[in-house]
Amino acid sequence: MNYDINDLTFEEKLRLLTGKDFWQTYDANGKLDSVFMSDGPNGLRKCDGEHTEESIAMPCISALANSWSEETVFTDSATIADECAEKGVDILLAPGVNIKRTPLCGRNFEYFSEDPYLSGILAKAYIRGLQENGVGACIKHFCCNNREYDREFISSEVDERTLREIYVRPFEIALEAEPWLVMCSYNPVNGIYASENKKILKDLLRKRLGFSGVIVSDWGAVHNSYKALKATLDLRMAFDERAYGELKTAYERGLITDAEINFSADNLLRLLEKVQKAKKERRKVRFSVAERRERALSVARESIVLLKNEGALPLDPRKSVYVAGCFLSDPPYGGGGSSKVRTTFKSEPLARLICERTGAKTGFRQHFSDDGMFAEKCLLESAAAADRVVLCVGEDERKNREGADRITLRLSEVQENAIKMVGKVNKNVTVVVYAGGAIDMSPWIHSVNAVVYAGFCGEAVNLAVADILTGKVCPSGKLAETFPLSIADTVAYPYEPDGYCDRYEEGIFVGYRRYDRDGKEVLFPFGYGLSYANFAYSNLVVQKAGETSFTLSFDVENLSSVSGKEVVQVYVKDIVSSVSRPEKELKGFVKKLIEAGKKERITIRLEADAFAFYSAALDEWYVENGDYEIQIGSSSRDIRLKARVKIELPPESQYTVEKADLREIGSET
Ligand code: GLC
Repeated sequence: MNYDINDLTFEEKLRLLTGKDFWQTYDANGKLDSVFMSDGPNGLRKCDGEHTEESIAMPCISALANSWSEETVFTDSATIADECAEKGVDILLAPGVNIKRTPLCGRNFEYFSEDPYLSGILAKAYIRGLQENGVGACIKHFCCNNREYDREFISSEVDERTLREIYVRPFEIALEAEPWLVMCSYNPVNGIYASENKKILKDLLRKRLGFSGVIVSDWGAVHNSYKALKATLDLRMAFDERAYGELKTAYERGLITDAEINFSADNLLRLLEKVQKAKKERRKVRFSVAERRERALSVARESIVLLKNEGALPLDPRKSVYVAGCFLSDPPYGGGGSSKVRTTFKSEPLARLICERTGAKTGFRQHFSDDGMFAEKCLLESAAAADRVVLCVGEDERKNREGADRITLRLSEVQENAIKMVGKVNKNVTVVVYAGGAIDMSPWIHSVNAVVYAGFCGEAVNLAVADILTGKVCPSGKLAETFPLSIADTVAYPYEPDGYCDRYEEGIFVGYRRYDRDGKEVLFPFGYGLSYANFAYSNLVVQKAGETSFTLSFDVENLSSVSGKEVVQVYVKDIVSSVSRPEKELKGFVKKLIEAGKKERITIRLEADAFAFYSAALDEWYVENGDYEIQIGSSSRDIRLKARVKIELPPESQYTVEKADLREIGSET
């Protein structure tokens, strides 16, 4: 059905701009259907007032990103879309693509990565998984909401190049999937609230990036209705009874125009048309609850990362296993705040799941908790008596939640002590970590043989962990964020806000870009993850396909007797540049199953965006002539193949200083 704005009264148009209640848009006295919105991104959280409906807790976005698989991400959001279809939800307020500027951000469990390319590509798949199944996506939070501390007040101060290359880039990439909505963030950006920031909403998001859908505020992020409207924010949520009066008064004072009101009201009518078309043509319930649970498990299996394995895994079925630690009966599956899904699924104890898969003799008991109880004698006696020990540790929603940041990257002291003590009485210890982000494992990792990072992998987490511990599934996850060796190495630490402003002084050097530039050792690098298989890379061939297009082809061979999936990563380095550029930047990746003993040839295409940087001088993405190094690896610090390519664009397209001059400054010859 097509709606005509002329069928609405002036009052109805104004009221359309501010919603009907906490989750729905205004229905114009029955002339329109309301659009129902609900949170994601880690499953459906449908609330009606105090009641939250039961849903499937899917792996959190942070865990999902560790899958490095567009297909897995699509499966994840398509599963959530199925539940939306069942529960009458039109829009899922997801995905979140905030860049992990600091691993301390309390909401990082809801976000993909420290890298804009990985975030954007996976967000695009997430959006497609929703919208191809008839549910609208609302990508968030635009922009520079990279910590939770005082998020509604402290201004993120970011230079133009950093803004475009790092913080807005994931949105720019994800817009290719045409999300129906973009949600603005709470924080000011360069001194002006995102909700009324004409430069980022109207000039950048709409005009430069071409977004033509609805811009919705974060809930309660609008401080001034008419200034938000003039910045082209279309929908103020949640409903606020003051909004109509503010807009009406502003109109009467000539501060807003009919054109501005009609522009936003029309955007909402177009959104309603999209919802109704999708409802009719694509939205339907395809899966049972059991099938959704199976899909959640398949996603979790792809998202778990094997970080260390010195002969411990897979577990030997002939050896007894003692499982101890925290969260034995209720593994953390997600963080706190608006993304918290209510699931009634109860995970079976990991020990039982291990026994079911291998028949191994197992025992288990919760000897300590995250923050207190520690039955040391009993734990150590049990651990010493077993052939193998599996220790479950981590953090739950108390430390990973909306509205507050983490204050440390380390596990609680009681957990660290327990790990070190058990490592003294048993020489075969595997640690399973449930967490919403990077963990500093340096105090204890040398005391154990293996570490499996489960992250926040949804309600099926222990089924997936058991599959990986027992070898039923070969681990294939890779870290989508750097695990630093110390909190002192992280950006903006210690955090000392000067009251109102958080200056992003590190510029584009975020995450591995920064650790590489500074030559800093890390605990585990971006893109790192082990497998039970072993892959060799060879025979790289680079073919120039155009002025700034290259096709890379290379072999990856599985040298082991275990079939497994490898995530091959392509990084690009500008050898000599007129601006400061990172040592390497992720510009391509592929996850590929390679059967035991087999070899696959992988082809990846690089286009101009793989070589460009955002030129603040030109206010454009700009590819500079010169030599570039292509680095192909199994992680950002495990480069297996390299090649150099030359870009020679016509001189009229080049503005930089003579590269010959720069070359003498001691670039690589
Ligand atoms: C919250 C979050 C946002 C969420 C919205 C609705 O404060 O910042 O991500 O979608 O409000 O719950």
